Amino acid sequence: FKVPIVDNEPMRGYAVGSSERKALEAAIVKMEQELPFEVPCIVNGKPVKTGKLAKQIIPSDHARHLCSYHEADQATVASAIDGALAAKAEWEGMPWNDRAAIFLRAAELVSGKYRYQLMAATMLGQGKNAWQAEIDAAAELTDFFRFGVKYVEELYIQQPPKNAAGTWNRVEYRALEGFVLAVSPFNFTAIGGNLPGTPALVGNVVAWKPSPAATYSNYLVYQILAEAGVPPGVIQFVPGPPPEVVAQAIDHPAFSALHFTGSTFVFKKLWKDIAANLDKYKGYPRIVGETGGKNFHVIHKSADVRNAVLQSVRGAFEYQGQKCSALSRMYVSSSLWNSGFKDQFLGEIAKIKVGVPQDFSNFMGPVIGKPAFDKIVDYIGKGKAAGGEVLIGGTGDDSKGYFIQPTVILTKDPRSVTMAEEIFGPVVTVYVYDDADFEKTLELIDSTSPYALTGSIFAADRKALVLATNKLRNSSGNVYYNEKCTGAVVGQQPFGGARASGTNDKAGSISIFYRFVSARSIKENF
Ligand code: ALA
Repeated sequence: FKVPIVDNEPMRGYAVGSSERKALEAAIVKMEQELPFEVPCIVNGKPVKTGKLAKQIIPSDHARHLCSYHEADQATVASAIDGALAAKAEWEGMPWNDRAAIFLRAAELVSGKYRYQLMAATMLGQGKNAWQAEIDAAAELTDFFRFGVKYVEELYIQQPPKNAAGTWNRVEYRALEGFVLAVSPFNFTAIGGNLPGTPALVGNVVAWKPSPAATYSNYLVYQILAEAGVPPGVIQFVPGPPPEVVAQAIDHPAFSALHFTGSTFVFKKLWKDIAANLDKYKGYPRIVGETGGKNFHVIHKSADVRNAVLQSVRGAFEYQGQKCSALSRMYVSSSLWNSGFKDQFLGEIAKIKVGVPQDFSNFMGPVIGKPAFDKIVDYIGKGKAAGGEVLIGGTGDDSKGYFIQPTVILTKDPRSVTMAEEIFGPVVTVYVYDDADFEKTLELIDSTSPYALTGSIFAADRKALVLATNKLRNSSGNVYYNEKCTGAVVGQQPFGGARASGTNDKAGSISIFYRFVSARSIKENF
């Protein structure tokens, strides 16, 4: 191994009076004094101001906005793609050590110099509390860059095992011909950095369209990558209205791959659009996507109640249920539910404070915007209309920010709408099953929703864990025992799901890098 041995970024605690708490608070105050910022597109390392301005609002205080950004127009997207293609040969030809060093340096910048600024942008712009911002914009982003370097190194040193006498066989992992389109979501600043970062690490050039609701933090990530040494043109920052920017990129003959995180609906549409354009392209584009989820906890009668309660509260309500992996449906053994689970669960939820992220005592912040707020409130209504009983929460207040109380719906119909459809908010639906029906319940879990992203099994009885693991074999891409279904760590639990949840290419592992290279076998005769 030539590259340094990497490890996960240590998390900071942000205790009252700690130096990191003071530094983060100061970064938030500074950002609030300086906002709103102006964010241009960046093409070939230069700002492009199209004059077509849109706003990234602050979801906890929607009268204010964090930034105005220039939406990429047709000419900007066209020059971004041309510029990326022009930058390709030099980037791909750069010695791997130098590309690795750039990303290791970017990791240092995220971990050190820009940590609190990035966290402040994630807190104000995307509504995360300090600890959620730490997990994401500080730790996970750093991990993606550092572990990415380790995985690419592993990829490059893999060789065919045999050489006949007088020959030398080797495999060269080339970047894809053309450019990669990265379309990133609002809910993780880290994913914002990872979607262009992963293909770029292996020598690709990328047009990156960030989520409108995460524009400012993602712009900072872009600047960090540039400061670390990613050359102009290699990653082109083209924020803008998704339909136009994305359609134009997919329409281009040099389009070679999509790296996407977002909704199942949009991903399917893009896949169809790509298929319709197939004859335009030189090759078959790689399509890599992480999409929706309807993540579950199943609680067996042998489970530790206290642990299952606390893990479920965190899984469902951290970041307001807006992680792709968030807990959304629960299946609880009736004996546990009736002998303390219900009371403890509701008791813990009643303690949750909802409010602005600048107040560190708030466990939950706002949901991301008005459409999300309306959709979630609508789903609570649909849950009730389907006979569900709201045990706690159920209300929202969008007068100042988009706040929704943590909500639990109890249903007697395990296939009701809020057990099956993705809500992407702080709403969890509980179905209480008869202890004797554990196995039937597993079948229910598998067949209720089209998604298969994450899930957790809570049981002290190992036979129950094994049974559930086997029955739920295809029900999730990540499964956890006696722990919440969120919080996959780069390098530890490769992340991603199958079925309607994505192509399961596993972010945070070596496997995803194979999708962005095209291998060439070379046989040399001596
Ligand atoms: N790492 C994130 C999670 O698993 C995506 O919640």
